[in-house]
Amino acid sequence: MPATSIFDPINYDPTPIINIKDFGDDDIMIMNHVVSSSSSSSNSISSRSSTTEESTRELDSGSETECIEPNDRYENSIPIMRSLESEKVVLPEQEEPSLSLLPQPHQQQQQNLLMAQAVPCPVMKSYTTFSSKFIAELEIITELIASILYAVWGIAIAVFMTFIPRRFRYKDVTGQVILITGAGSGIGKLMAQKFALKHGARVVAWDINEKGNEETVASIRSAGGQCYGFTVDVSSRETIYAAAKKVKAQVGKVDILINNAGIVSGKRLLDTPDESIVKTFEVNSLSNFWTVKAFLPDMLETGRGHIVTIASLAGLFGSNRLVDYCASKFAAVGFDEALKNEIKVELGHQNIHSTLVCPYYINTGMFDGVRSKIIPLLKPEPVVNDIVAGILTNQEQIVVPRYVYALIVLKLIVPGEVGRRVASAFGITGAMLTFKGTNKAKSGKLNHSVLPDGKKENGITTSPKLIKNGRKQKK
Ligand SMILES: NC(=O)c1ccc[n+]([C@@H]2O[C@H](COP(=O)([O-])OP(=O)(O)OC[C@H]3O[C@@H](n4cnc5c(N)ncnc54)[C@H](O)[C@@H]3O)[C@@H](O)[C@H]2O)c1
Repeated sequence: MPATSIFDPINYDPTPIINIKDFGDDDIMIMNHVVSSSSSSSNSISSRSSTTEESTRELDSGSETECIEPNDRYENSIPIMRSLESEKVVLPEQEEPSLSLLPQPHQQQQQNLLMAQAVPCPVMKSYTTFSSKFIAELEIITELIASILYAVWGIAIAVFMTFIPRRFRYKDVTGQVILITGAGSGIGKLMAQKFALKHGARVVAWDINEKGNEETVASIRSAGGQCYGFTVDVSSRETIYAAAKKVKAQVGKVDILINNAGIVSGKRLLDTPDESIVKTFEVNSLSNFWTVKAFLPDMLETGRGHIVTIASLAGLFGSNRLVDYCASKFAAVGFDEALKNEIKVELGHQNIHSTLVCPYYINTGMFDGVRSKIIPLLKPEPVVNDIVAGILTNQEQIVVPRYVYALIVLKLIVPGEVGRRVASAFGITGAMLTFKGTNKAKSGKLNHSVLPDGKKENGITTSPKLIKNGRKQKK
């Protein structure tokens, strides 16, 4: 028995066995095979090496060789006894696996994959390895070529489409339910009016600002459109879920969801109160999770729908005095992209669309006081025209103004210092130095434009109230 015997689990030095160079080619294959087949409860390839050590330590050269009955778990480990004839092999005693340790379906899939990769016999080894590798590589190359051809085709179609006026490509949203958060003012209000009055949609207006929301509803109804108002604080998950139930019961399933509500504090990070940072994330990013969780299941059920994320260029470029705002908008951008992949690629719903909207500063009052150097401040109406047209043509991303796409590419390829100089030249990093926000912002309260008149931040109305004909409906 060697000094460092594999029978002595404490003093045993695994080097001779781990060093599989000492074995012939066949044995290397066999060791791999054992690793593959004995990792039935392992979840990942990384766990295979530890299984190797465990397996090798448990080889017992002192006792008699036992012939192991082939079974599901060990049938592929038999070759190891052939190759290690001088050694006597005793497989570890297996405890009855508890129910929770039994391979779960996805683990079983991984196991099957590992088993499929295992080479069944030494003679076949080189051929099988080569051919499976070759086939795998061929598949990757084919997929890459297909995706490049698809990209070329996509670009050609996009170029061709630019010659067809967008209005001829609009989808029909007449009678569809379009829910807009933050519809009590700014671009939310304009979108609500446009969808209801120009495109015949039934608009559901959500806002924490009761008065502003009532005005939106009244303006649409008085012009003959359909609009339903709910006072909802989208920073509260429970409120969103409760309001969503009411909308489904009183108006119907939502066809297009537009996450538009937003707030900004506009201070340097160290001057921004913690609660303000949390609130910014709750309104600008987290609310998107809750509204989508509330309305996406219906879209999946009907196989169609549309989710719109009103983010910002601040979700693509970081700017000083907007650290919390930019971070929350970057989160919204990531949310849109990841969700798009989940819905379209994993769940395969090609008729559930999503649109990401990233505008530069707009003159709505939210960013009162900002100073722009080169890119002019945007007027709300043209921005809303662009957004509505983009939604009606299922555009995936809307950046306003369009030429800012060039800056996005530039940012990705130039060194950071160069990027900052360009941003400074364009006035992006200086714009917020003169920020005032709305009048209420001056009082130092959290984005005051969002709060109902006369109400304090912690006195926010959280229960949704249906507004009919511009009036609150009494329960
Ligand atoms: N104004 C800009 O320069 C600009 C630029 C890019 C992106 N955006 C984004 O566009 C969206 C609309 O902004 P806007 O310019 O129309 O500003 P706005 O202040 O006029 O509109 C925001 C609306 O969201 C509502 N809101 C805020 N907090 C809420 C809450 N907790 N629950 C429910 N509603 C709430 C407000 O009451 C308000 O009606 C925002 O998401 C904003 O971040 C604005």
